[in-house]
Amino acid sequence: MDKIKIIGGNQLIGKIFISGAKNAALPLICATLLTKEKVSLSNMPILSDITSLNALLDVLGVQIEEKTVSSGKNTSKTYTYQSKNFKNLIAPYDFVRKMRASYYVLGPLLTREGHVELSLPGGCAIGARPMDIHLNSLEQMGAQIEIKNGYVIADAKKGLKGANIIFPKASVGATCNILMAATLAKGTTRIENAAKEPEIGDLIDLLNAMGAHIEGRDTSVLTIEGVSKLKGAEHAVISDRIEAGSYAIAAAITKGKIELLNANPEHLLAPLNILRAMDIKITEKPESIIVDARNADMTGQDIMTDYYPGFPTDLQAQFMALMTVVPGAALVTENIWENRFMHVPELMRMGANINIHGYASAIVRGVKKLSGAPVMATDLRASFALVLAGLAAEGETIVNRVYHLDRGYEKLEEKLKNVGADIERIKEPD
Ligand code: EPZ
Repeated sequence: MDKIKIIGGNQLIGKIFISGAKNAALPLICATLLTKEKVSLSNMPILSDITSLNALLDVLGVQIEEKTVSSGKNTSKTYTYQSKNFKNLIAPYDFVRKMRASYYVLGPLLTREGHVELSLPGGCAIGARPMDIHLNSLEQMGAQIEIKNGYVIADAKKGLKGANIIFPKASVGATCNILMAATLAKGTTRIENAAKEPEIGDLIDLLNAMGAHIEGRDTSVLTIEGVSKLKGAEHAVISDRIEAGSYAIAAAITKGKIELLNANPEHLLAPLNILRAMDIKITEKPESIIVDARNADMTGQDIMTDYYPGFPTDLQAQFMALMTVVPGAALVTENIWENRFMHVPELMRMGANINIHGYASAIVRGVKKLSGAPVMATDLRASFALVLAGLAAEGETIVNRVYHLDRGYEKLEEKLKNVGADIERIKEPD
């Protein structure tokens, strides 16, 4: 398994191009299942999560054309999907286990074909990750659902029908699945307490371009008037706010200056406000954000993760890495996932001073220096937090299990090397 070697201490200065958003791209790919016509998605990031989901669509019988698009600043993919007829309606365990977002095939296949079998993904390193909200909502729309041999077997032979649904939690995944299911349902569906993340707005834009009737974008009440059929469309995926936030923290932790090209500051209001409160200069331009921490007199800041537009859970680990080397104390509270402090013991191995209280809060007291060490993370964002700690630490850090990073950070070493990091991938046979 590949590793990443970092020699810490370099100040990062330069420009980083932010790729298309992984968490927007995954539901968009599954939305293409809703029509027989061609749907093209551009600005797609080059990531293993995208390849894994494409492999599942291939098994379902979807035709996929791939094009690599290079502009001066960046290389991305454009994928064109066409699902005229499905070869099968089963999302097998081997795919879902590798790629949880495979569960986005549930809503589209059920509403279009009236049947789907989806392996239940199970828990993962950050929490139990149940699917009850997805399944209860589909039942309210008339689906018959059975759990058998680890699979969700869902039927809606006469099609789904509109319903008034109130989500107990503003789940991103359930909002996407139910939105997609409702586009082809009979009648009107109303979702209350829907998630408002920018990735949902991106999905609504594609679905409406395909002929869906969805109102309420960016609000917690979505109204979907079902139509009998959707058509092809072309859509460019939004830029990745979590990748942008991660590199903004890289500028902060190295007291450097990075311009995040193709980043949208409107999607990062809470994290940018925290960085501003730390005396970091943030300049917002029409298509970039400049993060300048060279002269910042930083002190610890408390954060509490929350549903959008609150502080994103997907930046909690990275922010905590920053707090480990900033003078003062910071209270970090995780409100979305029940088990998202797995990076704490690894940061402590590098000399961080962190105390976990209960299961949702941690107090971080900044130390003068971290020291490099071999470390290992159990999920994508925690792995990036360890890369950040390595960039700030004295000496050599080896981050193991790089496959986590490859799931969600495109060309990580190249992007960091271009702004001055001493970082390299050590290739090792699996
Ligand atoms: C999405 O996961 C993201 N993944 C996650 O990013 C992100 O952390 C999360 O949203 C929150 O922002 C993708 O977009 C692929 P949820 P999702 O359903 O949709 C509970 C990353 O690092 N819940 O909004 O799975 C759940 O347990 C990943 O890129 C139920 O109780 O998250 C959690 O506590 C990690 N029942 C809360 O809701 C359900 O049926 C939010 O989960 C569904 C969710």
